[in-house]
Amino acid sequence: MIQSICCIGAGYVGGPTMAVIAQKCPEIKVTVVDISKTRIDAWNQADLDKLPVYEPGLKEVVAEARGRNLFFSTNVEKGIREAQMIFISVNTPTKTYGIGKGMAADLKYVELCARQIAELANEDKIVVEKSTLPVRTAQSIKTILSNNGNGYHFEVLSNPEFLAEGTAIGDLHNPDRILIGGEQTTGGLKAIEALSSIYAHWVPREKILQTKVWSSELSKLTANAFLAQRISSINSISALCERTGADVDEIARAIGADSRIGKKFLKASVGFGGSCFQKDILNLVYLCHHFNLPEVADYWEQVIKMNDYQKHRFAKQIIDTLFNTVSGKKIAFLGWAFKKDTNDTRESAAIYVAHELLQDKAEIHIYDPKVTKEQIERDLQQLTSNCPEPHEEVTVHVHTDPYVAMDKAHAIAVLTEWDEFRNYNWQTIYENVYKPAFIFDGRNILDATKLKEIGFGLKTIGKG
Ligand code: UDX
Ligand code: UDX
Repeated sequence: MIQSICCIGAGYVGGPTMAVIAQKCPEIKVTVVDISKTRIDAWNQADLDKLPVYEPGLKEVVAEARGRNLFFSTNVEKGIREAQMIFISVNTPTKTYGIGKGMAADLKYVELCARQIAELANEDKIVVEKSTLPVRTAQSIKTILSNNGNGYHFEVLSNPEFLAEGTAIGDLHNPDRILIGGEQTTGGLKAIEALSSIYAHWVPREKILQTKVWSSELSKLTANAFLAQRISSINSISALCERTGADVDEIARAIGADSRIGKKFLKASVGFGGSCFQKDILNLVYLCHHFNLPEVADYWEQVIKMNDYQKHRFAKQIIDTLFNTVSGKKIAFLGWAFKKDTNDTRESAAIYVAHELLQDKAEIHIYDPKVTKEQIERDLQQLTSNCPEPHEEVTVHVHTDPYVAMDKAHAIAVLTEWDEFRNYNWQTIYENVYKPAFIFDGRNILDATKLKEIGFGLKTIGKG
C-alpha cells in the first residue's frame, strides 16, 4: 500500500492532480515539490484566490486537503527521499536548439528529475511519468535509474493526464478513463496495481485502463492529435463557409448529431492554443520522421499548418476590414487566455494575432478577466525576442476595466470565449467607439442579431 507520494512540478497539471489525489485519499501523504519558490509560495498562500493556477473548484479542493495530507514545498530532495511513489510532472517544452529544434520535446527537465531520484533513492521506488512524453521515454528514465540508483529497484509507469484546463477539477473527479502503462513483468504489474488502487478510491475500476508502457505514452499524443485535428477540420470548413454563405455553427450541429462523429470539439474558432496541442503534434511529427514515416508526419503536420492559417486569416481580416491598415488604430482585445476559465496563455491565439497587428503598427488594448498584466507583458516580451523583425515599438496597454479597454476603439476583437463578454452593455460600448464600429468575434459567442441592430459591423468565424 502506498502511503506517501511526491510530485515534482507544481504546474497546471501537477498542482490540481495532486490536490485531487490528496482530497480523495486522506490516508496518503502527498507532497508537491517545485524548484520555483514563487510557485510554491503561491500554492501555500493563505488567500486561496491567489493560487498560481486559476481553475474553477480548485480552491475548495486545496482548502480541504492542504495542511492535512497535501503539502507544497521547495525541498525537492526531502520530497523524493520520503516518497514511495514519485510523479514527474515537469514541463516538456518544444526544443529550441540543436537536433529536433522546433519539433522534438526537450526532455532535459525530465532527465534531471530521473538523475536526482536515482541519486537520492534510499529504497525501491515507483516513478510515474505524468508529463506528456515521446514514446520510449519511460525506457530512458528506467535506464538512468537502474544505472545510477544505488542498487535499488525502480518501476517506471506512464500515466498521462487528460484533464483540460478550465475544467480540470471536473475532469479529475470524473475522468473518461485513467490510463496506466507499465512493464508486463511481475514487478511492473505490481506497480500498475499500486497506482490503480490509488485512483480506485474514486474512479470505477472499469475506467482504469492498463496497457503496455509504450501504448500509454503514444495514446496521449494520439488523443491530443485527434482532438486538435477536429478543430483544424472544422476551421478549414469555416473558411469555405465564409466564401459560400454557409454557417459553420449550423454545420457543426448537423454533423455532430451523427453519433459516429459526435458533437464535441467542433467549435470553429480563431485557432487552438494551449500548452499541449501544438507541442504534442510537433512531437508526433518528429517521431514519425525519426522512424522514417514522412507521409504520416506530413499528414499530422497539416493540422498545425491549418491552425496557423486560421490565426493569420483572423488578423488579416481585421486589417483588410479596417481599410487595409491598422497603423495607429486602437484595437481592443477581449481575452488573452488560450480558452475561458483559465489564466494560462501558453500558445494562445491572441498572442499570434497581436503579433500580426503590431507588425502593422496597431495600438492594442487588452482586457482579460484572469490573466495578469505581468503575464501579458512576459508573452509580449517573448514575442519581441523571438521575432526576426522586432516591432519598432510595442504599443500595448493592459486594462482591468473592459469598458476602458474598448473606449474610443477602432475595432474590438474577441480572442477568448469568456462568458462575461456576452453580457456587456453593448449599446454603451457602441456609443463610445469610432464609427464604423467593428467587432471581430473570434469565438462566435456574441449575440449577432443584437449587435447588428445596435449598429456594429460584426465579423464572425465561418458565417458568410
Ligand atoms: C504539463 C506537463 O507536465 C507537460 O508535459 C504537458 O504536456 C503540459 O503540461 P504544466 O503542469 O502545464 O506541464 O507545466 P508548468 O505549469 O510549466 O509546470 C511545470 C513545473 O515544473 C513548473 O512549476 C516548474 O518550476 C517545475 N519544474 C520544472 C521543476 O520543479 N523542476 C524542473 O527541473 C523543471
Ligand atoms: C487539451 C486536451 O483537451 C486535454 O485532454 C489534454 O490533457 C491537454 O490538452 P487543454 O489544452 O487544456 O486540453 O484545453 P482544450 O479544451 O482541449 O482546448 C484547447 C484549445 O482548443 C483551446 O484554445 C480551445 O479554445 C480550442 N478549442 C477547443 C476550439 O477552438 N474548438 C473546440 O471545439 C474546442
